[in-house]
Formats: sequence, C-alpha cells, structure tokens
Amino acid sequence: MIGFPLFPDVASTVASGVDYLYFFLTAVSAFFTILIFVLILYFAVKYRRRAGRRAEQLTPDEEHRSLGLEIAWSVVPFLITLVMFTWGSSLYIANSRVPDQAMNIDVVGRQWMWKIQHPSGRREINELHVPIGQPVKLTLASQDVIHSFYIPAFRVKQDVLPGRYVTMWFQPTRAGEYHLFCAEYCGTYHSGMIGRVVVMQPEDFQKWLGGVTGDSPVQNGEKLFTAFNCVNCHATGARQRCPQLGGLYGSDVPLEGGGTAKFDEAYIRESILDPNAKIVRGYPAVMPTFRGQISEEQLLDVIAYIRSLTPQKGQ
Ligand code: CUA
Repeated sequence: MIGFPLFPDVASTVASGVDYLYFFLTAVSAFFTILIFVLILYFAVKYRRRAGRRAEQLTPDEEHRSLGLEIAWSVVPFLITLVMFTWGSSLYIANSRVPDQAMNIDVVGRQWMWKIQHPSGRREINELHVPIGQPVKLTLASQDVIHSFYIPAFRVKQDVLPGRYVTMWFQPTRAGEYHLFCAEYCGTYHSGMIGRVVVMQPEDFQKWLGGVTGDSPVQNGEKLFTAFNCVNCHATGARQRCPQLGGLYGSDVPLEGGGTAKFDEAYIRESILDPNAKIVRGYPAVMPTFRGQISEEQLLDVIAYIRSLTPQKGQ
C-alpha cells in the first residue's frame, strides 16, 4: 500500500478521536451487514422448498413467538445508537468549543481562493502557516458563495457562508505540510480552490511571521475607523449619541425593545451592515449602513480593532 494511504495524516489533537469513532461506526456496520447476509443464506437453505413440505408449514407459528428475542433486538440497537450519539456529540462539542488562549486568524473565501490574514498583518493566499502545539482559531467569511474549509489531516471541515462569520479551531500536533481543500462545489474552478497548511516549530513560525512587515489588522482597522468616520461618533468624549466601544467585546449589551445581544464578531458585523437591526438601548437609530462600501477583509480589520479596544484606551 506504499504511496496509496487509506487515511490522511494524523496531525491535530482531535484527529485520532475522530478516527476511533469512525472505526467504531465501520465495525458496527460491518458486523451487522455480515450477520444479516449470513442469516439470509442460512435460512434460504434451511427453509428451501422441498418435496412433501406443505405451504402452511412455511408460515410463521403464532405460538412460537419469543418475547425475549423481540426485547433483545429492540434494546441492543437502542443501546448501540445511544453510544454513537453520546460519543459523536461529545466529540462535536469538544470540536466547537474554542479554547480561550487560541490565536485568531482571519480567512476570507472567494471564487476561487482562500485569503488569510495573521494577527501580525502578514497575509497569504491558499497557504496557511501555523505553529505546532498552539490552538488556532479561524474566523471565516465568504465574499460570494458557499465554500468549505477542509483540512483532512486535522479532521476539521467548516462551511464558509456569505453574509456571516463562522469559526473553527484546531491544534496541530505534527510539523509538516498538509492539504487544504474547498469541500463545497462553488463554481467552475472549485477543484482548483486548494492549498496547503504548513505546520512549523514555534520559533520557525516566529521567523516566518517576522519575514514580512505589514500593518496588523488592528492598525488597518484603526485607519478604517477614521476613514469611514466611525470615530466622529464613537470616540471618547463625543456627544454620547453612540455607544462607547471600549471593553464591550465579549459582553452582553442591552437592546432597544428588550433582550440583550452578545457583542461579538457577528454582532459587530451586523451593526456595520445593518445598523438598525439591533440597537443598543438608550441610543437613537442614527447610524448609516456601510453595506457595499466595506469589503469582507476591511470588516475583519475593523472588528480586530474594536476587539482590541479597552475602556481606558477609549473609543
Ligand atoms: Cu470554494 Cu469550492
């Protein structure tokens, strides 16, 4: 089997857990498939039509129903599927809980490439460099249609949707180069929407990051915050017509008309594109929409900037 691997590399903390579940599901399916086929053959031979055997002898005998057997074939599959459910959902939950210390990398998908930006400002296309042993969170958006970010060696896959943010995370465990695919048919060159993930030792990664200097998303976001005139209203000491943004990230904000909203990436994005959707209580609905004026990448930069604001730093 040299040169024809049946499974991708195992290169993240969740990969072997996903594989064990997969092996279990395969084993259960194989066991019952074989059992059913063997019994079909056995009964076909045992109860075949023979000279002298009358038809009524072939019909089931009401007297010989076995309650024990009926309970067994109901309870056993129930327990097996319950095992599948708890095992699968615990993996799923572990996979969707992003560790707090994860570093955030922004990803924008479009026909037909992946555009990636690191917190340091370093950008890359169809390549993702990450350090070994550190949890990495990806914030993903699509500029056009549905794509899917898929790294088989990490056993992670996430649909990337236009008009909203999705997140995924992983922690690489082995240095090396791995495949990166788009796993959702997205048009003519879908099959070309591929790339590689490069897992490096932390010191190599730092060197790689340092190789190119560019503005960080926070710096870009600060410029955009001024360029789009957000600063006029949202700055400290402004006439308090708009909420101060410092320190809000991650908190729950009270809304006009009752209820609260979590001040996260999705809420900031919605407030920029559709400011009247969820208005913070006590403030007038005066903010204009920036739909069509701001690109997905600029949105991610502005969000990075707002995330970085503290109450002291103001704005
Ligand atoms: Cu993007 Cu398929």
